[in-house]
Amino acid sequence: MLNIAVCVSGGGTNLQAIIDAIDAGKITNAKISAVISNNRDAYALTRAKNHGIESCCVSPKDFASRDKFNAALLEKLNYYHPDLIVLAGFLVVLPESLVNAYQGKIINIHPSLIPSFCGKGYYGLKVHEAALSRGVKVTGATVHFVDEGTDSGPIILQKAVCIEPDDTPEILQRRVMEQAEWVILPQAIDLIANNKVSIVDGRTVIAQ
Ligand code: GAR
Repeated sequence: MLNIAVCVSGGGTNLQAIIDAIDAGKITNAKISAVISNNRDAYALTRAKNHGIESCCVSPKDFASRDKFNAALLEKLNYYHPDLIVLAGFLVVLPESLVNAYQGKIINIHPSLIPSFCGKGYYGLKVHEAALSRGVKVTGATVHFVDEGTDSGPIILQKAVCIEPDDTPEILQRRVMEQAEWVILPQAIDLIANNKVSIVDGRTVIAQ
């Protein structure tokens, strides 16, 4: 049984999609043992509580330095011994120590088709604002492994979403979530939980 820790910062709709997929049997061989937020007010924490999942907040505001926050975050994750850490809208740059400790065991959902609109400064609505202002006709979402860079790790799954003429960043964000993120994040977790994903020469191979 894959032991998952989910890291969140906001609304937690992707967390909800994972919870629902486990309940519906669309993700097998996996359970969420903890939800960790950097933001005390994240609605994602309420979603976890409503579902009887252990949750906690590790906020940079409670520590004297970034190094101390980084150490506390790593310590909290270690406590749960996760096989997989899922960044589901976790808007914190992970410290190198964490990435090194969990090589190949951290995945992230990003709201664009990487390598478009990703990297430093591209998160949340900013990604959709950038896609609309560039005038692309297709965007989407990507689930990828996390490495020491920003949005640069091996890609696991991607799904495209069409842009419509009257889209605003908010409308597009919702469509990308509904049509792509809430689909491919649970799918990727199910693939990993069933040992179907491997990394070969920096790229993922998905077993059929
Ligand atoms: C999602 O759109 C996710 O892709 C994005 O934050 C949102 C969180 O929503 N993540 C990033 O931009 C990471 N670079 P949620 O809290 O409702 O799941």
